[in-house]
Amino acid sequence: MRPLLRLRNVESRYGAFVALQHVSLIVPEGSVLALLGPNGVGKTTLLRTVSGMMAPTSGEITFDGVRIDDKPDFEITRLGLAHIPEGRAIFPTLSVRENLMMAAYATDGINGSLARVNELFPVLETRRDQIAGTLSGGEQQMLSLARAIITRPRLLMVDELSLGLAPRLVAQLFDTLDKIKQEGTTILLVEQYVRYALRLADIVVILHKGQVAFIGEPGELAHEGKLVEAYLGGSQAASATAEAEEQEGPKPRRRSSASATSGARPKRKPAGPRGSTRRSSQA
Ligand SMILES: Nc1ncnc2c1ncn2[C@@H]1O[C@H](COP(=O)(O)OP(=O)(O)OP(=O)(O)O)[C@@H](O)[C@H]1O
Ligand SMILES: [Mg+2]
Repeated sequence: MRPLLRLRNVESRYGAFVALQHVSLIVPEGSVLALLGPNGVGKTTLLRTVSGMMAPTSGEITFDGVRIDDKPDFEITRLGLAHIPEGRAIFPTLSVRENLMMAAYATDGINGSLARVNELFPVLETRRDQIAGTLSGGEQQMLSLARAIITRPRLLMVDELSLGLAPRLVAQLFDTLDKIKQEGTTILLVEQYVRYALRLADIVVILHKGQVAFIGEPGELAHEGKLVEAYLGGSQAASATAEAEEQEGPKPRRRSSASATSGARPKRKPAGPRGSTRRSSQA
């Protein structure tokens, strides 16, 4: 499979703080890459750097062979890269239908397909006139995902969309992601439900303090007991079924020293205007 996204030796900083360093990876077209690791290791920063929310301080990023690390976010979006950032990427004061129409409009409506979204998320059709901010947490996550895929992106980047969802809804969310994968969409997934992520993924990348600690197939993690223990909270990620996780939720992960020094950032984002797959269109 040819590379759809390629990072070469990428470094990203917040001021003097180096959040990503020497990061090189490839996301082949049609594959799912799961980006894992404890809190504060740079997973969100990596997605932000790829989607143009922040510029890398060095290195090179290409999307389908086109250099994107020097492009503004709206141009990267137009190339077919959708990013669902941490927190819910919706307009809470607009209706479900208006949220979907705005997402479709941002791509000139050419690729927008309400029918496809209604098929994947029947509940959104029944709630289409409801104000988005009054949807349940799970429904809001579905709307975030629907807004991203209505543009028919070539690469979908998802940052902890399962956050705060009940286990049953997490299972549903992963079923939907699997359908999106089966349709041929390439996915870069940041996820705390490690076992679900590994079932969906073709490639796993584990980050540690802003650097790549492991790249391989999910099955290879079975031989990496210490690594799994150290970076994924000893969840025996590659070996067992997702049963325990489905019942109990994800295993708590250790805080890295990076996040410990930066102070606790809230995991749940406050309500209010949120990021979007169409960042530039929301100014
Ligand atoms: N806007 C910012 N300014 C300064 N430092 C930041 C900023 N955003 C993130 N960081 C720091 O950069 C590091 C990486 O953060 P990032 O959000 O990428 O981690 P993460 O792996 O997504 O963590 P989590 O699993 O908690 O979401 C952390 O130490 C964090 O405190
Ligand atoms: Mg994050």
